[in-house]
Amino acid sequence: MKRVTLRFFLSSLLASPSFSQSCPDYADYSKERHKPYSAGRFALAYQRPDPPCRTFISSTVDEAIRSMSSVITDPDLYRLFENTFPNTLDTAIKWRGHARNNPKEELAFVVTGDINAMWLRDSANQMKSYLSLLVADSSPDSLASLFRGVINLQARYILNSPYCNAFQPPEESNLEHAPTGGSTAQISPPYDTAAVFECKFELDSLASFLDISYSYFSATNDSAFFGEHQWVSAVQYVVNTGRSMMVPTYRDDGSVAPLPYTFQQETRRATETLANDGIGSPAANGTGLIRSAFRPSDDSTMLPFLIPSNMMFAKCLEDATAILDSVLDSSSSPNSNIFPLRHDMWAFTQSLRAGIAEHGIVPVLSKSRDRDVEMVYAYEVDGFGSAILMDDANLPSLLAAPLIGYLSRDDSVYQRTRARIFSSKNPYYMRGPALNAVGGPHVGPGMAWPMASIVRILTSDDDAEMESTLRELVSSTAGLGLVHESVNSSDAQNWTRQWFSWANGLFGQMILDLALRKPHLLDQSYQ
Ligand SMILES: *[C@@H]1O[C@H](CO)[C@@H](O)[C@H](O)[C@H]1NC(C)=O
Ligand SMILES: *[C@@H]1O[C@H](CO)[C@@H](O)[C@H](O)[C@H]1NC(C)=O
Ligand SMILES: *[C@@H]1O[C@H](CO)[C@@H](O)[C@H](O)[C@H]1NC(C)=O
Ligand SMILES: *[C@@H]1O[C@H](CO)[C@@H](O)[C@H](O)[C@H]1NC(C)=O
Repeated sequence: MKRVTLRFFLSSLLASPSFSQSCPDYADYSKERHKPYSAGRFALAYQRPDPPCRTFISSTVDEAIRSMSSVITDPDLYRLFENTFPNTLDTAIKWRGHARNNPKEELAFVVTGDINAMWLRDSANQMKSYLSLLVADSSPDSLASLFRGVINLQARYILNSPYCNAFQPPEESNLEHAPTGGSTAQISPPYDTAAVFECKFELDSLASFLDISYSYFSATNDSAFFGEHQWVSAVQYVVNTGRSMMVPTYRDDGSVAPLPYTFQQETRRATETLANDGIGSPAANGTGLIRSAFRPSDDSTMLPFLIPSNMMFAKCLEDATAILDSVLDSSSSPNSNIFPLRHDMWAFTQSLRAGIAEHGIVPVLSKSRDRDVEMVYAYEVDGFGSAILMDDANLPSLLAAPLIGYLSRDDSVYQRTRARIFSSKNPYYMRGPALNAVGGPHVGPGMAWPMASIVRILTSDDDAEMESTLRELVSSTAGLGLVHESVNSSDAQNWTRQWFSWANGLFGQMILDLALRKPHLLDQSYQ
């Protein structure tokens, strides 16, 4: 035991030089097909790095992969699972260690994949794909330690720059910073450029911190962890930052109210900057909703109140109150701020839910022939009556509302919204012989996102829908056996992002979910 720990410690100290000399860059490795190929008609490559080049070894995850070989019958489906599920552990755990000022505070720097930076949203989701295997464990080589390291580093990032979404390696790691490409962005408030990779205010980034926290808590009941270090202070920042983004555009006397966050940059892409010189489209007063300047795709919002992100924020605030309760119960001298904070979060959750119900559900014509109206969730609204009716592949999406835990899959408004998402009524639903899936403006029309197909399966109970969606996923990896960011809906050879760790992990998570819910779907051919 001790030897393993010591070896890990030494190898993490030495990680950067020895690792990079002998191991290929996964951004290149993942573009080429490696042998042995799977035995099915898609002859999928084997894309796991050699064991010495993997960035984290978990015997629990490796065991889960082995045990699924007797559950998944199709050789191509199994290969896709085998490559994708461990992808975050294999490739993205760039550094682990402890805080310089606190040797008990674990830290883990998890890159999104092909960019050497850590997104709050991506890293939370990257970890979440292993949630079903997570158990309480204080040892430094456990999945639990990795979760703690991610939560602690996210808390540090949020306390440092709460309006930002993606961050540089911590200074303790001595890792090189990701180049930010000489950005011309003018962003307020100013942030710490040594710590931040990108500073787009995305409400779901803050929710993701609560989400990964609650995931760890629900699996381990480790309330002591949340009472130490900076977690409670970071939660206070999440709440304060959320509230700060509720200011309406106009004051009662008609003057324009200052917004705590603005963003502008020179760009040819409309989705890379904000309207109205950096404040975005106007937001009405009194909606109870929080503005998000950007979407989970990192594209700017068209209208300020992004409904999926408000749903996720409401749900995650509610979950986090359970953590605070447990910290209060288990600590002999709890932080005196916890009780009012918990109270405030509960009230905030209720007002967000009310705001979503009042402003996020809008009438649409059910059929063009008649004038029947039905109620559906809008993607974005402004509180003045305008709504954007669409869905985007990235999570949180409207499609993912039950996965977020905001509502139940049988919710009638959700079911109507879901039916529209997979129809020509959704301006970002891509159709074609290679992949039928939701896409989005981030890569643009014509490009379908496998991630949205995975979420379609996770939010379905219909065997036929799940089977046909899985069939498309298995057949659309261009022989590489990894989940790409987007795939041309009519040509699977045309795809983007060879190394998108989160989407890979989500595929694995979905397969483990099917093993519990629909094992017969794994015991059939996808040839
Ligand atoms: C917004 O609406 C509330 C009532 O909902 C009102 O009290 C307040 O004065 C309005 N204006 C601003 C700028 O908050
Ligand atoms: C969780 O932890 C708390 C405090 O340590 C304890 O009182 C409670 O019984 C635990 N619950 C479970 C389900 O283990
Ligand atoms: C998708 O692929 C087709 C066929 O290769 C091509 O004509 C089309 O331009 C591609 N679409 C996009 C959005 O790249
Ligand atoms: C995808 O197809 C489009 C249109 O033909 C082309 O411009 C683009 O370079 C292709 N991308 C890849 C990765 O093959």
